[in-house]
Amino acid sequence: MRSAFRNWRVLVIVAVALIMCSGCDVQRRKSDAELGLNTQQAGGRRLYDQYCDRCHEPYSSRDKKARSLQGVFKKQFLPESGMPANDERVGEIIVTGRNMMPAFGQAMSQQQVQDLLAYLHTL
Ligand code: HEC
Repeated sequence: MRSAFRNWRVLVIVAVALIMCSGCDVQRRKSDAELGLNTQQAGGRRLYDQYCDRCHEPYSSRDKKARSLQGVFKKQFLPESGMPANDERVGEIIVTGRNMMPAFGQAMSQQQVQDLLAYLHTL
């Protein structure tokens, strides 16, 4: 009897948690393997988390401090600047910055920029 009561309480707690979270868009973070990332792309993802994630969403079209980078290389042109969406232009933006976006040429090596670009191609 007592354990049945306890189970019932657990159910209520779970139900309340589910209801509270049904409106929130916090999604479980996918692992590198689930995203099918190779070693280079996974390294780029860690750089992204460290340097880019605070301003750009990778897996949602929602804007943060700046535009989402979801599908950034899937279109021909970048949404904000209208520049061609290729490694050259995006690499340049990362290294030298642009308007309100800081430059990361000091923080990252050329190899790291390449790793980051490889990851951005998976978005
Ligand atoms: C402090 C916030 C901030 C951080 C951190 C940041 N960005 Fe940006 N980013 C911006 C802003 C603001 C713009 C828009 C610049 C402009 O006016 O064209 C931008 C633009 C861009 C663009 C061009 C978008 C377009 O449509 O033209 C790319 C690509 C980009 N960022 C990638 C990155 C990457 C990769 C990183 C991590 C290395 C990063 N950003 C880190 C704020 C940020």
